[in-house]
Formats: sequence, structure tokens, C-alpha cells
Amino acid sequence: MSLIEKTGLRLLHLLEPEAAHDIGLKLLRAGLAGGRGPVQSNRLKTNVAGIDLPNPIGIAAGFDKNAQAVPETLRTGAGFTEIGAVTPRPQFGNPKPRLFRLSSDRAVINRFGFNNCGMEAAYASLTARPVAGIVGVNLGANKDTEDKSNDYMAVLSRFQDIVDFATVNVSSPNTERLRDLQGRAAIDMLLGRVLERRDELGSGGKRLPIFLKIAPDLSLDNLSDIADVCLKRGIDAVVATNTTLDRRGLRSAGWQEKGGLSGRPLFQRSTEVLKQLYRVSDGRLPLIGVGGISSGEDAYAKIRAGASAVQMYSALVYEGVSHTGRVAKDLRNILARDGYASVAGAIGVDA
Ligand code: FNR
Repeated sequence: MSLIEKTGLRLLHLLEPEAAHDIGLKLLRAGLAGGRGPVQSNRLKTNVAGIDLPNPIGIAAGFDKNAQAVPETLRTGAGFTEIGAVTPRPQFGNPKPRLFRLSSDRAVINRFGFNNCGMEAAYASLTARPVAGIVGVNLGANKDTEDKSNDYMAVLSRFQDIVDFATVNVSSPNTERLRDLQGRAAIDMLLGRVLERRDELGSGGKRLPIFLKIAPDLSLDNLSDIADVCLKRGIDAVVATNTTLDRRGLRSAGWQEKGGLSGRPLFQRSTEVLKQLYRVSDGRLPLIGVGGISSGEDAYAKIRAGASAVQMYSALVYEGVSHTGRVAKDLRNILARDGYASVAGAIGVDA
């Protein structure tokens, strides 16, 4: 980490977490994190659902909800990024405070509730400046929308032409009843509608890959159902996982705050979910591993559990956004150490 980034992070951690994140994004946009683009190496190249990535380390949804700093984020070393969650209409989200650092656990709790500027503002921000790199959008639904599928389809329609993938997010714990959409019948119906809309929009030629992001707090039966529906419907990849409601094993003050927990305590469970998905789908469903990654070894474990690529968020709160570049370089060395010429060779070997 550069001295500027280290000092900046220390100062930011003196502030209230949400204010610190907002300022951090502004500093990032101002170019303070520097960098020269995604870490490049033949060994790190990977492919998820037909998308070629320069390296498998991505920035997870929630980091840059309104696409304020996409070109700068991609400059810090990550292989791809995901903006959002974006909802059709702007939304304030839950009352503040709603973001908490659990420093001793290297974890974060958030109960934002899809706060964002709405799809028109995010679209304007993303298109205002040239972006070199792979960008996806995390699709969200407004709190007061009765039929959530209409919202996913609206945001998809808005972004279809300018993103490389879109993720149906039914796993945020902070929007009431959203997670109910993960049941077999509900997810089947929702994905059917979203994919139909994708196909209508893409009749001109572009077929946008659609991912599904799931919660870590699902039973094995539930995971099997989801894998089954995704394979049947032709979902392009599953992102595992979002934040958890589980609070076991935490030692930081603030552990009892309501919301979704992310960071190191989520690592084991989210990796287990990856393995289970890999097994129940016989490795036929491309997977993106998220949850508690803070090192090259962590990213490697996710790949060995079945992921073709990974994403990070909470570790960046503690290590800075350019940590993704360091993780990518570590992963390159680890793959070389273990004799893998590419990411593909290591996918699923532990599953
Ligand atoms: C998130 N996450 C998230 N996920 C999502 O699909 N849509 C979203 O809008 C958000 N928002 C969000 C805000 C904050 C403050 C955090 C910490 C997380 C979840 C995130 O993308 C990721 O799945 C989890 O945080 C687990 O990864 P890490 O943080 O352990 O690396």
C-alpha cells in the first residue's frame, strides 16, 4: 500500500463509516489510488460465462452503487467491477447509522436497504466518462414495488447496452421479503421473466450474460433447487454469496447490529456454498465466489471450491481498494507455485 493510501485509510477510519466510504469514493475518483489498470498475466486470465477477464479478482456490488468511480476502480488492479445495486427510482434506504465496522473481526455489518440515486443517475454517471474494462450491474428492486420482477427488468433494460453482465440480486437481507424470491417456484418465475426480457432486448444481436446472486443462509435442498432452476433456465453464472444474518463467533463491539454481515467471518460459509453448488451442478454452472476474501490464498481457495472468478468488498474497507491488485499478484504466484498454468486448471479441484 502506498504511503498516501495508508495515511488516507487511517484518516478515513476516524470518521463515521458511511461518511468515510463516501469520501473514499470521491478521493478514488480524484485519482488518489493511482494504478495502471487490471493486473495482467497469462496465468490469471479467466473466462466466466463467455466473458474474458484479465484477472479473476473483481470488486463486489455495493462498493460503488452509483457508478461514481468506475474508470478509477478498474485502474487499481481489479479484473472487473460490479456497480449497484441500482433500483429504477432513487431511494434513500434505511435510517442512518446503517454501516458498522467490526474491526477485530475484519468484518462489516450493513443495513443500507438499497440506497442509490436510481437508474437514470447511475446510467448517466457510467456513460459520462470512457470505461476500459469489464463492468456489470447489480439489479435491485425498490422497497415499495409490489412485483419486484418489474424492477429487475426495468434496470436491465436501462443498462443492457452498456454493461458486460447483469446480476439479479435476490439475496440482500435489508429489503423485506426479497430473500423469499430464492424459493424454487419464485426464482423460477423471476428468472424466466428476466431472461425473456434479456432475449427481447438482445434480438438485435447482443446476448447479455445474466447472473444470479444468492445468500449464504440457504439449506442444501434450497441450493440444489436453485442450481437446478439456473441450469434449466440457462442462467450464465451464480454469484455466491451475499452477506449473512449469522452472528456466530464475533468478538467486536457492534456484532448485534441488524443487517448483513460480510468480511472474514463469512469466508468459510460462503466457500462451503460454492463447493455445494459446484457439486450439485457437476461443475456445469459457472460460479463467482464472494465472501471474506482478503488474500491471494483466500481467492485461490474460492477457485479451488469451484469459482471461475471472485469478488471482494469488506477487505477493501481495511486494506484500501488497490488491495485487489495485490491479491491478483499473490494469486498469480500461488498458481505458479502449485504448477497451474491458468486459473481454469484449479477450478473446483477441492469440490
Ligand atoms: C454489500 N453487498 C451488496 N451485494 C449486492 O448484491 N448488492 C448490494 O447493493 C450490496 N451492497 C453492499 C453494501 C455493503 C456496505 C457491503 C459490505 C456489502 C454484498 C457484497 O457484494 C458481498 O457479496 C459481501 O459483502 C461479501 O463479500 P466481502 O465483503 O466479504 O468481500
